[in-house]
Amino acid sequence: MVMVVAVLAVSALAMAKDAQEVGPLTIHGVLSATEARALGETVQVNIRNYMYTDEEIVVPVGTTVVWLQQDSDQHNVRFFAGSDNGLEEDHSGPMLRVNQRWAVTFNEVGTYDYMCDPHPFMVGTVRVVAAD
Ligand code: CO
Repeated sequence: MVMVVAVLAVSALAMAKDAQEVGPLTIHGVLSATEARALGETVQVNIRNYMYTDEEIVVPVGTTVVWLQQDSDQHNVRFFAGSDNGLEEDHSGPMLRVNQRWAVTFNEVGTYDYMCDPHPFMVGTVRVVAAD
């Protein structure tokens, strides 16, 4: 039992160290299921059959979204810089293999449109609204 707790603590530390601030986004990177759980409450978007489901989500500011990649082909998430968000340039996430998770916290209100780099027909939107 003590060993399990120690391993989880190390894993959480490694995750915090690897997180990257990109303008209004905190990019947590590619996470295991355990690391994703350590983020607390999150909203999940599945990548399956060359689609993001749900294609558009509306979340309060501060929400962490986890993309779970479920196709045998690889996909990613590229956010577009735009007048409706605080990104100064596009941000392209890593290609995800099947069962990999990629997590991002949205720290500012805005509209974050995204697509998959190798499959431009795969598009999605995260609309971040003020918390109640
Ligand atoms: Co794709």
